[in-house]
Amino acid sequence: MSAPNTLISTQQVMLRYQTGKVALSGITLDIHQGSFVYLTGESGAGKSSLLRMIYGGLRPSSGHMRVLGTEIREAKESQVRDIRRRTGIIFQNHRLLFSRTVFENVALPLRVQGWKDDRLVARVRKVLEFVRMDDRLWSYPEALSGGEQQRIAIARAMVTTPPLILADEPTGNLDEDTARHILDLLTGLNKLGSTVIMATHDLHLLTSHPGRVVQLHAGQLVGDTHSSHVHSGGAHE
Ligand SMILES: Nc1ncnc2c1ncn2[C@@H]1O[C@H](COP(=O)(O)OP(=O)(O)OP(=O)(O)O)[C@@H](O)[C@H]1O
Ligand SMILES: [Mg+2]
Repeated sequence: MSAPNTLISTQQVMLRYQTGKVALSGITLDIHQGSFVYLTGESGAGKSSLLRMIYGGLRPSSGHMRVLGTEIREAKESQVRDIRRRTGIIFQNHRLLFSRTVFENVALPLRVQGWKDDRLVARVRKVLEFVRMDDRLWSYPEALSGGEQQRIAIARAMVTTPPLILADEPTGNLDEDTARHILDLLTGLNKLGSTVIMATHDLHLLTSHPGRVVQLHAGQLVGDTHSSHVHSGGAHE
């Protein structure tokens, strides 16, 4: 049995893609409410695959995976939708809508939840202030830099104050200062109560922002430690 504050619990999870590729195997892991988890490992280790399973985008081929109280393997579509509503997702393939303004991009999850304009406008402004983009409300994403777009994606992911935030390489392709700012935002959200799981190659970031480090290698869990015990000497830019 998992502890009551366990947000995600997996037991012997295996994922085999239709190609026959076994992307993950033997993954047994508990993630507690309020934690900040770095998911590391080489390219192809299985980080994105694991994150996709957590929001119900993929189902385990075998094993058990419980997310926010729902067993993913048996989840109905309505339960998967409920997990998505309660999860902020910052993925490179979850692009901003380029035909909508920054304001509308961030407002979208609230509109889905049925928020009316009187409350919605104030909430969107507040979240855009948090990521320091409140002066770009009426810009279109194409007029923003990569780092600015990433901050809008974070604003969109946090606007409903979800209990769980999943971020896949949110600092990829960004310069050091911008990467640190993005990480500051994510750790800020974690302090406000969201559980954050972030896949990253940037091991040197871990030393400035402590957290749990779950390490994958070739689809297996090979390390589970705290970042103060991680040596980033082997990491490269
Ligand atoms: N849709 C798919 N069909 C078949 N195999 C896939 C699919 N997506 C990923 N894979 C394979 O599964 C393995 C894990 O991929 P995944 O994308 O999870 O790795 P990753 O750790 O996120 O890597 P990166 O750091 O490059 O993003 C890789 O061998 C990859 O080629
Ligand atoms: Mg990936």
